[in-house]
Amino acid sequence: MGNVHVLDHPLIQHKLTFIRDVSTGTKEFRELVDEVSTLMAFEITRNLQLQEVTVETPVGPAKSYTLAGKKLGVVPILRAGLGMTDGIIKLIPAAKVGHVGLYRDPETLQPVEYYVKLPSDVEEREFIVIDPMLATGGSAIEALNSLKKRGAQNIKLMCLIAAPEGVALVQEAHPDVDIYLASMDEKLNDKGYIVPGLGDAGDRLFGTK
Ligand code: PRP
Ligand code: URA
Repeated sequence: MGNVHVLDHPLIQHKLTFIRDVSTGTKEFRELVDEVSTLMAFEITRNLQLQEVTVETPVGPAKSYTLAGKKLGVVPILRAGLGMTDGIIKLIPAAKVGHVGLYRDPETLQPVEYYVKLPSDVEEREFIVIDPMLATGGSAIEALNSLKKRGAQNIKLMCLIAAPEGVALVQEAHPDVDIYLASMDEKLNDKGYIVPGLGDAGDRLFGTK
């Protein structure tokens, strides 16, 4: 079963409070999502492998380390996942960025896929799939299916806020995928919104209704 990691760093939790706040406007919301994504990426990349190198300092040779060259991929689930992308790739700029386009049918709450574009060397990459919200889990499950169908073998899922019901379904469908969250909230309401959540992440990021 994939592990669930709630990243309780004080800066993440502080910023998440203002992300949730209904009075936070689009500009600030977008900036905060970007900042929290960077902080979460810092935690998620903690186990990246290093290789030993020698670097010449002005004083002499120093034994030091660089990333061992593991190929990384970041895959935002469109559209709200876009709001987290820059925050991550500013830490790992060599990562390739794929996209999976999904929206939740407002009646059935089932995910509808409308776009997929991934790096060509999918099998060799370690992926981080990103979406601010994991509600019923349908979108995350479908995105993970989509990556695996194309050969991805090593995937992490990173969301800001999740509902326990959705997390359980993702764990069941994809037991090999570790899930990283800023918060595990209480529950879903009867419209499939996370309670207390933050409302509609895409609308708040892009100023739509
Ligand atoms: C939101 C969110 C997730 C999905 C989560 O996207 O960004 O992708 O809902 O819900 P689920 O876990 O029940 O599938 P939405 O469908 O609103 O599309 P958008 O990103 O284009 O706004
Ligand atoms: N999608 C959102 O943007 N918010 C929720 O609470 C659930 C799904």
